[in-house]
Amino acid sequence: MWKMQAYLLSLSTMATDNNRFQAIISHCKEYGFIFQSSEIYDGLSAVYDYGQWGSELKKNIKDYWWKSMTQLQENIVGIDAAIFMHPTTWKASGHVDNFSDPMIDNKDSKKRYRVDHLIEAYADDLEKAGKKEEAEAVLAKMDQLLAASDFDGIKKLIEDSKIKCGISGTSNWTDVRQFNLMFSTQLGSVTDEASEIYLRPETAQGIFVNFLNVQKTGRMKVPFGIAQTGKAFRNEIVARQFIFRMREFEQMEMQFFIRPGTQKEWYEYWKAERMKWHLSLGIPSEKYRFHDHVKLAHYADAACDIEFEFPIGFKEVEGIHSRTDFDLRNHQEYSKKKMQYFDPEINQNYIPYVIETSIGLDRTVLMVLSHAYTEQDLSTPEKQDSRVVLSFPPKLAPIKLAVLPLTKKDGLPEIAREIIDNCKPYFYCFYEEKDTIGKRYRRMDAIGTPFCVTVDHQTKEDQTVTIRYRDTMEQERVPINKIKEIIEKQII
Ligand code: GAP
Repeated sequence: MWKMQAYLLSLSTMATDNNRFQAIISHCKEYGFIFQSSEIYDGLSAVYDYGQWGSELKKNIKDYWWKSMTQLQENIVGIDAAIFMHPTTWKASGHVDNFSDPMIDNKDSKKRYRVDHLIEAYADDLEKAGKKEEAEAVLAKMDQLLAASDFDGIKKLIEDSKIKCGISGTSNWTDVRQFNLMFSTQLGSVTDEASEIYLRPETAQGIFVNFLNVQKTGRMKVPFGIAQTGKAFRNEIVARQFIFRMREFEQMEMQFFIRPGTQKEWYEYWKAERMKWHLSLGIPSEKYRFHDHVKLAHYADAACDIEFEFPIGFKEVEGIHSRTDFDLRNHQEYSKKKMQYFDPEINQNYIPYVIETSIGLDRTVLMVLSHAYTEQDLSTPEKQDSRVVLSFPPKLAPIKLAVLPLTKKDGLPEIAREIIDNCKPYFYCFYEEKDTIGKRYRRMDAIGTPFCVTVDHQTKEDQTVTIRYRDTMEQERVPINKIKEIIEKQII
């Protein structure tokens, strides 16, 4: 009973929000979720590698998104386009001319900042100091100046607010300038300008250039969608928030092609649908909010973010954009190939409008980890005890079932391995026989394994095992032949 009470009480976590983020980062490294890239060479800034459990978690999230956006839809199909694309793609998409952020350099430290991040960090500090209204006023002013591309005004706002560089501690700022975020490289061996190509900064363009290929070969009728997951690359200047902002990251995007004039209703539809998806991860609605864009991207006529309350505050995890016919129209113009669709219902040719849903896979991993990470005090009057548990939804957990023989002898390991052999074609299983059962449970809690099965001497007599549930820590005796069914019910 005390265990149950301790579990409920645990919702008041031991780590404060300030150190919670650091605790999650350390946990990810210690338990094989996420490592700094090229760590033996002191790492590469804003680039990360997923370890044995992180890659499983990431894959499970990606598969869940893919299934929700393709298999469970009637009119959305998936593609897998190449990272390299013809360089004119990025001219047509507007990225060569517009995919830049206003930056400011501190002349003393030579450190470069994205102005919105600099001002947002300042507003965060104001809010933490109890000056909420002042913080909101600064952010509102920033939004207004950015919307008007008033860079002199932005510099003045930074100076008037006496914002200082975190490194030099001075307010000695350059003018605000635009920097393009795309990485470029050379195709082939000739290093002339014509061979320069970009690493894609979004997966969306691979969908746009294949719009007609998919529409024709799939006999798709508007409205329909094309989904894709894959790597994207951005030369982010401020990149110090773990996997929240990376230079190489993964996106899960869907472009939904619609009849012009219907964009408002489809935009609202996808906002609601995507929020439903987020809530299906078991994360409560108060952890999310919509943020409408004031300054719209060069391609959008309406846009919002779904923000999640990370330990570092509410931040964007997904963008929903009404992209008009901007991309298809420009590709038509640059490629001289028609991007039109004949709509038999109204007997008309048109370039479809597009609603885009674009979610960062790595940010979703961080979101799921942030929500799942719980430090619990399990102390009783007799004994001090605690655990760190990752309470992932079972469908996302890296390992679904750990099978633990009580001892290494008496035929128990053989029974455990037989259970694993029966279950492993259906979900990820893990075998462990070292250390006490208690220690093994704690290790499985720390990597978020929802079910542990212990094989003991009674198993040999009546073919039952003890199944232990991660979140409640409750245990019950179940027949071996029911294990697969119990777990499968929880991971669909
Ligand atoms: N195709 C539209 C597009 O790319 P975006 O808002 O720039 O829109 C979409 O990016 C999502 O990609 C974001 O909501 C975020 O989750 C993720 N994302 C963007 N930049 C990122 C970065 N540097 N590191 C990690 N994820 C990033």
